[in-house]
Amino acid sequence: MQSTRIFALCNNKGGVTKTTTTINLGYGLARAGRRVLLVDTDAQSNTTYSLLGNLEQEPTLFDVLINGTKLADAIVETGEPNLHLVPSSINLSAADLLMASAPGRERKLMRALTPIKENYDYILIDTPPNLGVLTVNAFIACTDVIIPIALTTYALIGISILESTMQELRDNLDVELPIFGVVANLDDHTRLSNNVLGAVRDHFGSLVFDTVIPRNIKVEEAHNQIACIFDYAPMSTGAQAYTKLVKEVLHRAEGI
Ligand SMILES: Nc1ncnc2c1ncn2[C@@H]1O[C@H](COP(=O)(O)OP(=O)(O)OP(=O)(O)O)[C@@H](O)[C@H]1O
Ligand SMILES: [Mg+2]
Repeated sequence: MQSTRIFALCNNKGGVTKTTTTINLGYGLARAGRRVLLVDTDAQSNTTYSLLGNLEQEPTLFDVLINGTKLADAIVETGEPNLHLVPSSINLSAADLLMASAPGRERKLMRALTPIKENYDYILIDTPPNLGVLTVNAFIACTDVIIPIALTTYALIGISILESTMQELRDNLDVELPIFGVVANLDDHTRLSNNVLGAVRDHFGSLVFDTVIPRNIKVEEAHNQIACIFDYAPMSTGAQAYTKLVKEVLHRAEGI
């Protein structure tokens, strides 16, 4: 097996399915027999809640980044074999402030992951909808970036900010930061969706996965029910699309 792939799922725009993509790729890769760790870096803690059904974990990523807790001590099992989680908590919303003057603040997550990363085949980092210190930590810790994009109006407007931030980090912090793929999401099969998809493909070319995730209420319901889409609604268009996406990810990452 090759070394661990660490994907940062990033897009500074809110509500573009960073969390949904993280969770469903996580389940899918785990069910494909890979050892998967999800890291929730968003103070909204949506990934944490959708997997555990509560926000009562201690310690959390906050303790790892701010109090020096070992990341291994913050890892929790989920209901899914092969799928582990480093939970988030609301106090992570103060991380930008608390980490502002911490030495090496951009590399804290990378350093925390180093001792345990070989225990996993894939580590997926869900990020908040901004380009603050937590997203920068995800960029520095990752081997590759996955960009989820919602096929709605303004989809590409914030992307230039994301791309210039990534370029700044490449230039200044000696990271490669390759884009592994772009996942087009929330396809309504409307003319608007089609036009936006065309613009996304023009911009990112072959980086865009062939699989386009449709807007499908079962996807949202599954998270609301703390369930895996592949169990909750296996025949849904959402589950089928995520199954195809997982295959594409495995093909790109492992050549299978
Ligand atoms: N394929 C889908 N069909 C229908 N609803 C979806 C789909 N994917 C995601 N959603 C819903 O869209 C909303 C936004 O998705 P999500 O929370 O994953 O975005 P996000 O980028 O993580 O948001 P934030 O920026 O707030 O972290 C959620 O309510 C989610 O359940
Ligand atoms: Mg989210």
